Amino acid sequence: MKSAWAISTAIIANLAGLDFALGKKLSQDEPQQPYQQQYIPGAYIVEFEDGQDVGAAISSLARRSNVAGLTQRFQFDSTLFKGASFNLELSPGDREGDALQRFGALPEVKNIWPVEVVPTPKLNISWTGEGLATSLLQRRQVGAGGYSPHVMTQVDKLHEEGVTGKNFRIGIVDTGIDYTHPVLGGCFGPGCLVEFGADLVGEGYDGSQPPNPDDDPFENCNGHGTHVAGIIAALENPLGFFGAAPGAKIGMYRAFSCADGTTMDALMAATVKAFEDGSDIITGSVGQSSGWADHPFAHLVSRIVAAGVPCTFAAGNEIGGTEGLFSVSSPSVGDGVLSVSSFENTYMPTYDPNTGKASEVINTQTGGYISSFTSWGPTFDLKVKPDVGAPGGNILSTLPLAMGAYGVASGTSMACPLMASIVALLMEKRGTRDPALITRLLVRTAKPGHAFDIWTGRPIPYSQLGPVPQQGAGLVQAYDAAVSTVEIDAMRLSFNDTENALREAVVTVRNDGKTSVSYVLDHLPAMTAETIWSKSIYKQSSPTLSESYAKIVLTPNELTLQPGEEAQISVSVTAPVDVDVSTLPIYSGWIFLNETAGAAAPLVLPYVGAAGAMKNATVMASSRLWLTRSDNWLRPMLANDTIFQLPAPESNPEWGKEPLEATGSVLPVGAYPLQNIWLVMGSSEVHIQIQRVKPSCSIPGPSQSDNGFGDVTLGEIDAYPWTFLRVGSWDTIWDGLMADGSWVAPGRYRIIAYALRTFGDRHNPGDWDKFVSTDFGIRYVKSG
Ligand SMILES: *[C@@H]1O[C@H](CO)[C@@H](O)[C@H](O)[C@H]1NC(C)=O
Ligand SMILES: *[C@@H]1O[C@H](CO)[C@@H](O)[C@H](O)[C@H]1NC(C)=O
Ligand SMILES: *[C@@H]1O[C@H](CO)[C@@H](O)[C@H](O)[C@H]1NC(C)=O
Ligand SMILES: *[C@@H]1O[C@H](CO)[C@@H](O)[C@H](O)[C@H]1NC(C)=O
Ligand SMILES: *[C@@H]1O[C@H](CO)[C@@H](O)[C@H](O)[C@H]1NC(C)=O
Repeated sequence: MKSAWAISTAIIANLAGLDFALGKKLSQDEPQQPYQQQYIPGAYIVEFEDGQDVGAAISSLARRSNVAGLTQRFQFDSTLFKGASFNLELSPGDREGDALQRFGALPEVKNIWPVEVVPTPKLNISWTGEGLATSLLQRRQVGAGGYSPHVMTQVDKLHEEGVTGKNFRIGIVDTGIDYTHPVLGGCFGPGCLVEFGADLVGEGYDGSQPPNPDDDPFENCNGHGTHVAGIIAALENPLGFFGAAPGAKIGMYRAFSCADGTTMDALMAATVKAFEDGSDIITGSVGQSSGWADHPFAHLVSRIVAAGVPCTFAAGNEIGGTEGLFSVSSPSVGDGVLSVSSFENTYMPTYDPNTGKASEVINTQTGGYISSFTSWGPTFDLKVKPDVGAPGGNILSTLPLAMGAYGVASGTSMACPLMASIVALLMEKRGTRDPALITRLLVRTAKPGHAFDIWTGRPIPYSQLGPVPQQGAGLVQAYDAAVSTVEIDAMRLSFNDTENALREAVVTVRNDGKTSVSYVLDHLPAMTAETIWSKSIYKQSSPTLSESYAKIVLTPNELTLQPGEEAQISVSVTAPVDVDVSTLPIYSGWIFLNETAGAAAPLVLPYVGAAGAMKNATVMASSRLWLTRSDNWLRPMLANDTIFQLPAPESNPEWGKEPLEATGSVLPVGAYPLQNIWLVMGSSEVHIQIQRVKPSCSIPGPSQSDNGFGDVTLGEIDAYPWTFLRVGSWDTIWDGLMADGSWVAPGRYRIIAYALRTFGDRHNPGDWDKFVSTDFGIRYVKSG
């Protein structure tokens, strides 16, 4: 099946007034509709089958699909991804849905996706050097023992050994960079610190027009990319911080202009170019909340990783936890992509404007804890994400000179470049480029941390370890990873949910070191997190945590391995029972391997599981959906048998009658059926189908058939089904066109929408959430 992500301009993004119209006060468990993905109208990404000549495929696409024209946006000509994005131009009378059908039918076309709008990352800057003479900025007293983000992650210990990521090329996908900043080398190009890169989008790009690329990634209007770059490679400066990979060279691939927002195809093009230009590591503090690894950007980055280039991407920031569990960003959610969570800096960089003195004070409240904004995993198929964390809360770095030159900001955006730097240090120290080995080392040696309760007014740390879906394995420990000589074949375990439970896992531990090692094994649980409100269908925006734990039995519980020797450990699990399964509790924790002699830090094997059934969680808020009309923003519910007067299709002009005057039950021309779909959990498949209702008109239509979901229908409407959807909502306006290109005859119909439950069996009608609309009539009127 080709990707079902074919969407027409039928999508509008306006839900304001919905709950107002309902006259309903919102309660905790009846939240406002969360999120509406925006798309660029008429813009699509097409992936070609392998082996296609991209140039030739693009130039023949318009002719072979018989559309009026295609204006190219981006071209992806890489061994990893062949394709292009374009804006579609239609001939008079042609229809977007039809054109997409024709694309999909071409043998060279593998996938079609609409072009998503991606908001521009905003730096949450707590202070800058703005307006201050640089001479006033004094060297700060670097906290006891060194520069805190480097101390927290053991980067300082690698620096002491002279490991700096020397000559590794780190490609950054971001907003651009002020390379005139002396602390970032002051120049761009060969021989400079910012050695390579490009501007993929050009000035003023907001996604609505094709890009206007050039070779210069300079930017001084946003500052995000400049902050990210400083974390990797800032030189010595008056404020006393410096990059974590000071020996590395930087490439900047600018995918945002100074206008607000960019698009998924621009980010993909920037990432492909970073790969094609020979980056040794690619890092992106960019993405969109998703929860599904089946997203075009995530697929692309997974392929880059599979081709041997480690990629670090930010897990995402949900300030105040607006999305809850299962919301980790794409592409960090992709297989093999290193997804980076955030921890709070142990010191707060501060600045006294009176004395012009920068210093740092110990962060007694939240220092060292998991950042409250870091986005939660796991993935909808219950794989562990994010992978591992780094300091991202309260990080001092460079800003464009025009924005004050220095500033403190927070986000997984700040944690991610530190992780990319650590990957470079590890590559240098261990002489490896294997992304899977690097991730295994970082995960295995991470230090599990604690969350703090952000709802008590003052942050109060929990005494128990924070959930794996929030932090991943824990805070990265670069030195321990660099010197680890024990290999474990599994990086982490997923015990799945109660219906697909894995009760026992066996892992193999091998001593690759030169001396024998002895371990005592232990289990340390993390706090269990609730996905949805009790006896409700709605996700908790910030998961409730509890001290209900899985029982883990480890056999053996002690282990001695001679050099080269390996042994197996059996891990058997019983999910926590003292929980409310209706909240879909996600339990997690770590198996610890503590060295009994010797000073090496413990090794950890994180695990995750659901103490409930994924399939039991409702995915579609069917009870809060109704059919409405496109011309009324109050979204009235329609009386049964309301009649729509739609323009007659070109194929059947004889259906067109004279318009009737609008009445209570006959809507005016220009009012179309509008159906909102609201997902409260991710769904891998959503359908909107049409069912003919008797008595219908006398024009014999095609016959209805069993749709496999328990109903007899005419089939799918234009541009459906959709696949791999995150929590959120969207509107679909229907004009009578079906997915197979036919038009429904005048008559009486109802809409039936279906969303497949997570882990649902698509052949079992009971696993689909279903919404059935009121009946409505379609009467066609003469068009023009
Ligand atoms: C910005 O950071 C401050 C702390 O510096 C925090 O209190 C605030 O919630 C953050 N806001 C956003 C939107 O990130
Ligand atoms: C859990 O089980 C479901 C259903 O069989 C499967 O689709 C999913 O991949 C499993 N998850 C993991 C991490 O194995
Ligand atoms: C293993 O190490 C962890 C972390 O230091 C510690 O909390 C735990 O008590 C240790 N377990 C045993 C059995 O030594
Ligand atoms: C899931 O739902 C089924 C059917 O309602 C029920 O029998 C089962 O106990 C539920 N399982 C869990 C873990 O909630
Ligand atoms: C609409 O009316 C038909 C019969 O006229 C009935 O079968 C159907 O259930 C009604 N639908 C609703 C939503 O009331």
